[in-house]
Amino acid sequence: MKKTILTGLRPTGNLHLGHYFGAGQNYLNLQDEFDFYLEIADVQALTDNFNNPEKVRKNVYEITKDLLAIGVNPDKVHFFIQSKIPEIAELTVFYSNLVTVARLERNPTVKTEIAQKKELFGNDGESITYGFLGYPVSQAADITAFDGEVIPVGDDQLPLLEQCREIVRKFNSIYGDTLKEPEQYLSNVSRVKGLDGNDKMGKSLGNAIYLVDDNETIKRKVMGAVTDPNKIKKDDPANPDICMVYYYHKLVNKDKENLNTICSECKKGNRGCVQCKKELIEKMNEFLKPIQERRRYYDEHPRKVQEILDKGTTEARNKAKEQMKKVKKAMKIDY
Ligand code: TRP
Repeated sequence: MKKTILTGLRPTGNLHLGHYFGAGQNYLNLQDEFDFYLEIADVQALTDNFNNPEKVRKNVYEITKDLLAIGVNPDKVHFFIQSKIPEIAELTVFYSNLVTVARLERNPTVKTEIAQKKELFGNDGESITYGFLGYPVSQAADITAFDGEVIPVGDDQLPLLEQCREIVRKFNSIYGDTLKEPEQYLSNVSRVKGLDGNDKMGKSLGNAIYLVDDNETIKRKVMGAVTDPNKIKKDDPANPDICMVYYYHKLVNKDKENLNTICSECKKGNRGCVQCKKELIEKMNEFLKPIQERRRYYDEHPRKVQEILDKGTTEARNKAKEQMKKVKKAMKIDY
């Protein structure tokens, strides 16, 4: 029996290189080894976007097509839509008794997000909804509804996983051994830097290269990428280790020898940044080409995408229904 792996993505925007190297690339290895449930977390996306339902709906399809484009195989992976699994909502209600409000407020991920919201919307705490504060509980339901054992996540998600394990332990101690404690699976590249040199590539930071970016967009973005600020003239020697252009060369350029040449030419002052960026644009386009070709196929076959989601959702629902029976029996509400 293969172990169950589960992960979720919020449908709030297209996938960028940060998602690809930090997460997506791993899925391609994991899909062979595990029984893989991939949740398009529309309900969770609505906690922050409840007033923008069109955005969430559109991105359910965008993100599904991006995942298919990078090579996630729908014959191996169950793609499913969170809102179509009512068992997740039911479990969320049951688990909400097992976690205190104080504990949720102390969750480091939630804490950071509350601080960001206060910065955006003012300091009165009025912007913090019940649904937002409770999303870690809902995420524990996402995981346990499918008996998720291994959870691939970025390091920002570790407090949510810890919270899930606490809920599981509490549930098991009160109602008897029913749920499994999930373990994390961290990828070896957990963060990808942004075009501006920021430690994290992110949509809200405006420093991302998207998998769907066309050649013109790639060109504009790469030409604007941050390089060694001490390099003024074309033949000044520079430090490639603080240059985003070299950093992305290393990500998308698989030719080791070429990378060594770039590095030593840069250090010696034999390589201008404009030339170096032009080469990166070419490598980037080469890298994205097969992804964008697959993406185009799914853009042209929307029915196929819908079928993949429908099939995965049916499979996921069957699993969640089984789990629900066990939970209700343990809680003595199996009337
Ligand atoms: N919170 C995750 C994120 O923002 C998305 C997510 C939802 C998730 N449900 C999940 C991740 C279950 C892992 C497991 O990236």
